[in-house]
Amino acid sequence: MPRRVNMKPAVILAVYLAICYVTEGKRFERCEFYKYIKSGLDGYMGYSAANWVCLATHESGLNTMAINNNNGQSSDYGIFQINSKYWCNDYKTAKAVNGCGILCESLRDDNIANDIECAKKIAKQSGGLSAWVAWKKFCKGENLSKYTAGC
Ligand SMILES: *[C@@H]1O[C@H](CO)[C@@H](O)[C@H](O)[C@H]1NC(C)=O
Repeated sequence: MPRRVNMKPAVILAVYLAICYVTEGKRFERCEFYKYIKSGLDGYMGYSAANWVCLATHESGLNTMAINNNNGQSSDYGIFQINSKYWCNDYKTAKAVNGCGILCESLRDDNIANDIECAKKIAKQSGGLSAWVAWKKFCKGENLSKYTAGC
């Protein structure tokens, strides 16, 4: 009779890899991020791409995995720290609106195309980048040349 192969380690490994795959995020380099967003965001609503680099730098450190809780009320997700109360669904925020019609968790992977689409919607519906506290605090009215320098 052939020996039975113990499948358990293989199954555990497969599950582990599946989880890694699903939740894999990345930290962008500054110029890498700038080059990625330049075509889609530069000039959008009159804001230069440097504004978005500044915004994302101060919101998430350019880390797509970023997640932060707002006093237990809601959470902010991904590179633009998009809020679960108004823009995405995380299944745990009371009276959430989900304005972008997406799962919050999908904002944390390494594909930021949906993050950009949602950020544009937020900017449009909020009348600009003032919707982001970090932009108002660190970017508004500042000399932003350092965010694109050398890119
Ligand atoms: C912004 O900062 C850069 C680098 O420090 C400088 O060269 C440039 O003249 C500044 N621009 C303005 C409008 O102050």
